[in-house]
Amino acid sequence: MPLQAEDHDPRTPYQLPFPKDALPEIVIPDAIPQDDREWVPQAPNVWFRPLCLNRSQGYWVNLLKVRKAGVLSRHRHPQPVHGFVLKGRWHYLEHDWTAEEGAYVFEAPGETHTLVVPEDCAEMITLFQVNGVMCYVDPWGAVLGYEDVFTKIEMCRRHYEAVGLGSDHVERVLR
Ligand SMILES: [Fe+2]
Repeated sequence: MPLQAEDHDPRTPYQLPFPKDALPEIVIPDAIPQDDREWVPQAPNVWFRPLCLNRSQGYWVNLLKVRKAGVLSRHRHPQPVHGFVLKGRWHYLEHDWTAEEGAYVFEAPGETHTLVVPEDCAEMITLFQVNGVMCYVDPWGAVLGYEDVFTKIEMCRRHYEAVGLGSDHVERVLR
């Protein structure tokens, strides 16, 4: 049990200021957005909605949306990924399990996989935290390209500018 002085109500909020160098929180009420312009196109039938683009620690948290027939190209993760399926289902060509709505997935460093949505699923949405970098590879592991938090930020800036939200719309999710 934590120490609890008898005259302190447990509902008394913390009374001191936060550290002056601490960054502000991010609160996004409509994480699954009403405005479709919030979805940044990534590939045919694939979009992401950034929630936290953490340039100071080199990771990003986003919602990934993939419609039927969409494919998230084969890629390798040198660092871990956490996922939580909010809608629909999907699987990797490299694994025999399917991630269904409500599922949590941990992808260990060293994973290489290709994400596809089954024919009978119209759309999936999954929250992913991706650390460091993802390297797009050919079937034998030769690197074809990469994404990191900075390429994600640039994609957001270009998209938001093009759809009229303005390139600085991304800044609310930068830390
Ligand atoms: Fe992945």
